[in-house]
Amino acid sequence: MKVFIDSAELMEITPFYLYHQKMAAGVTTNPSLIKKAVDARKGDMRLGEYIEQILRVAEGTPVSLEVTETAMPKMVIQGKALYERFNPIAGNVNIKIPVNPALTPEDDSHLDGIRAIEDLVGLGIPVNCTLVFSPEQAMLAAQAGASFISPFAGRVDDDLRKRLGAPFDKTEYYSSAGRRSDGHVVSDNGIVSGVHLVYACVQVMERFGYDAQILAASLRNPRQVAEVEVAGAPLATIPYGALLQMIDDPVQVSSLSLPTLDERRWAIMHHAHAGEADEAEVQNMLQHPKTYEGMGNFTRDIVPEYVALTGGPE
Ligand code: E4P
Repeated sequence: MKVFIDSAELMEITPFYLYHQKMAAGVTTNPSLIKKAVDARKGDMRLGEYIEQILRVAEGTPVSLEVTETAMPKMVIQGKALYERFNPIAGNVNIKIPVNPALTPEDDSHLDGIRAIEDLVGLGIPVNCTLVFSPEQAMLAAQAGASFISPFAGRVDDDLRKRLGAPFDKTEYYSSAGRRSDGHVVSDNGIVSGVHLVYACVQVMERFGYDAQILAASLRNPRQVAEVEVAGAPLATIPYGALLQMIDDPVQVSSLSLPTLDERRWAIMHHAHAGEADEAEVQNMLQHPKTYEGMGNFTRDIVPEYVALTGGPE
């Protein structure tokens, strides 16, 4: 499994590439990580130059830059502008697009992420599809032509802990086989853990023969990293703290016990894979409460300086 760093902090990205050259395979940023970097930087370098520096450090490996727009056609315009502004620096930019940019179930933009992926891919721009919380979302992103698909493992575990009423520290390990309550394993529509979500997404790519690579994301600790590797993820993006722990104290995992998806779900995905699903069915497959929540969080963290880089208001 190849390892990306999940960070927009040069103070983290630079040592990762400098000291772990063989391991460093890419960078993922998002609006919250950009805000963190901007807040820490306190204005000593313009954000555009700062991003250019990240791209140079990561030269030869992919770097994801996320759009902040939440509806078509602005997502495509901004994705194209980000790519045109930054890809010439080191030729390593991909554009991160949320699988569903809607902020609530009532919004009418559920299909805009998939449509934006199709348009950007049509322009020859590689896409990392983000905020994926179900194998159905992963299937549709792959069908749209995304190069990378990012299932958010840690946030699934956070959600399952919440359902269990368990107080938690985000770095605490959550069993990939899930946890039992009242005699049954607590799940999100059959997904029993973040590692299980990653495994299901890998299964979808294999079953349908998509070229997209699963980039396990929202990882919190070395054990989870070791498990997504055993689950078959070709790529994982890891925050700096977990990377350091992983390097200092590598975890070995030989096998996992993960449930397979039920036939009803496979039938729905086969139907969509064959292009037979109508708009309402596709819209239904794209919805997930954690995707809405993730869009809400990212939207709250948008810094005007980032939007201004691609022609938006300061
Ligand atoms: C993925 O690309 C995201 O940047 C990231 O993994 C989100 O992780 P979080 O759930 O820790 O915010």
